[in-house]
Amino acid sequence: MARVLVARRLPDGGLDPLAAHELIGPKPGDVPFTSAELRDHAGEVDAIVSVLTDKIDADVLTAGAGGRLRVVANVAVGYDNIDVAAAAAHGIVVCNTPGVLDETTADLAFTLILAASRVVHDAEADLRAGEWHGWGITQYLGQDVHGATLGIVGYGRIGRAVARRAAGFGMQVLHHARTDTGEPGYVADLDQLLATSDIVSLHVPGGDATRHLLDARRLAFMKPTAVLVNTARGSVVDEEALAEALISNRLFAAGLDVFEREPEVHPRLLTAPRTVLLPHIGSASQATRTRMARLAASAVATVLGGGTPPNVVPS
Ligand code: GLV
Repeated sequence: MARVLVARRLPDGGLDPLAAHELIGPKPGDVPFTSAELRDHAGEVDAIVSVLTDKIDADVLTAGAGGRLRVVANVAVGYDNIDVAAAAAHGIVVCNTPGVLDETTADLAFTLILAASRVVHDAEADLRAGEWHGWGITQYLGQDVHGATLGIVGYGRIGRAVARRAAGFGMQVLHHARTDTGEPGYVADLDQLLATSDIVSLHVPGGDATRHLLDARRLAFMKPTAVLVNTARGSVVDEEALAEALISNRLFAAGLDVFEREPEVHPRLLTAPRTVLLPHIGSASQATRTRMARLAASAVATVLGGGTPPNVVPS
């Protein structure tokens, strides 16, 4: 019987594929394992089921390689919390959960597109605070979503799922990706996509290659009437530069589900106008989170059984 460290509580039924194995964790009260605890456990288990807040760094992986660690399965499509190069160097397989969360995450991206464009948060906050004193023709004027040009940055599964929704809203859809997709709407120059889009939605992976892809210089290319939506990773946007752009009215609105230093939120974003902020809930539907857990658990079971699952992360 193999031993599997389960770092956090998962949805009911999510661990069913691992029924034949000994499970360690999660900790009482679902308290996250510290780095030192992850390192200590890594040396004694065959597999780790992690979530995106567990830092599976070179130290953890080296400790695991010193023992019998064979696989780390992240219950997330992103894996910027795992040192994939260190895992590869030690022959440890890394898996993620692609495919099962695309539509749910695209739904949330569209929620933010609509909410930020139509200043839903500011309007609702006034109403709840008793600050709405009657209908007014110039109140809470947002930007139209229908007919707008949507610029999608990163055209993988989730970016494409957002594009499909945009078609239903009569939007013109442009997309940017590192390599030419050869598809209509492809814009090779990111700066040009930013300058021509009314709404920009980010769908690139996190990590060093995309850190501050949207910095002060690039944000300045966006129209003052534009809306930025980020459901990818907080590190993709320079939050200080974004807050400054919103506060100085150089950008109309932002909808953010991810942050650079989660669970901290940049204090200037908390008070910036026309900003919708969500606590990283892109894939948070009952069905999708259960599918993610099962997919990660199945990958572990497959590796422990000597097979190769389809959801191995490229090294
Ligand atoms: C969520 O952010 C994920 O990567 O699955």
